[in-house]
Amino acid sequence: MKTVILPDGDALKEKALDPKFDPWAEIERLRREKNAIILAHYYQDAEIQDMADFVGDSLDLSRKAAATDADMIVFCGVRFMAEVAKILSPDKTVVLPDADAGCSLEDVCQPDDFARFRAEHPDHIAITYINCSAEVKALSDIIVTSSNAEHIINQLPQDQPILFAPDRHLGSYLASKTGRTMTLWDGTCIVHDRFSTRELIKLKAAHPGALVAAHPECPEGLLGHADYIGSTKGILDFVLSAPANEFIVATERHIIHQMEKAAPEKTFLAAPGADGNCNCADCPYMEMNTLEKTYLAMANEAPRVEMPEDLRLRALKPLEKMLDMSPPAGAITQAAE
Ligand code: 13P
Ligand code: SF4
Repeated sequence: MKTVILPDGDALKEKALDPKFDPWAEIERLRREKNAIILAHYYQDAEIQDMADFVGDSLDLSRKAAATDADMIVFCGVRFMAEVAKILSPDKTVVLPDADAGCSLEDVCQPDDFARFRAEHPDHIAITYINCSAEVKALSDIIVTSSNAEHIINQLPQDQPILFAPDRHLGSYLASKTGRTMTLWDGTCIVHDRFSTRELIKLKAAHPGALVAAHPECPEGLLGHADYIGSTKGILDFVLSAPANEFIVATERHIIHQMEKAAPEKTFLAAPGADGNCNCADCPYMEMNTLEKTYLAMANEAPRVEMPEDLRLRALKPLEKMLDMSPPAGAITQAAE
């Protein structure tokens, strides 16, 4: 089902391509004129993070989208994040710079397949990672993010069988942390799945004082070498508070921008891929967004997220459960290893 409305025509594109065009000034003007708030994920380009009103992880961005009194939410992130903003704030105009900014986890978990998975396990509760479509959310019992999943699963009865989709690395990490039996969907993130444990060990040997902070979407073997495992916000808090000067960061590399801004005296190394270089740490979907496309989205009010009200209401239920069962904002929830 299509939840994104595309702009009519592209007259404004000419303007955005003019060498004298100043996206910063134009975005600033539209931000005021349209009473817009710009939300950005940590994986966005540095210039987008610096222009945003708020930069955060999936949970904090959801909370911000639910609480804002702006008329327009400009979501610089991927499509499922903008959909969550629309589900939580249906009266707002929600735009995203590039309608094709998807997620490999959303792609590998199609609603029909997920409905079959649920039907095959009628006594299981479906705990679903927020990195999925609105349709899959609507088929789920509780949505989680990497920063609240462990806290939420620990509130379920011990003997409750659990289905977890779509990220199998996050699922098996959660199963081992909570001691629960979980049936996992076989999906991965194309960014985190590509980090190489062998190359990480070599990098650690070359930087013996460096601590490793990893996102739980990384493979289990790599997580075994991490000093800290958590969401993007958790990783950021860890590197800023840990008493070390050097860190290896096993998540999408654009988060390093916030680390360098907040702790310029520390050194941050991107975790390596199989060929030893770190280009694999770029999310190709997040990269689709640019300042020019952000301006165009604000000016055109498109690509804009719209969805049928019955779908929105069905997807809202498990998202509200997530917000009700989450720890208070600001608490670091994923334990340091
Ligand atoms: P966070 O919830 O940790 O920000 O992660 C989002 C994401 O897409 C990870 O790849
Ligand atoms: Fe999806 Fe991975 Fe990109 Fe996150 S980093 S948005 S999980 S593809």
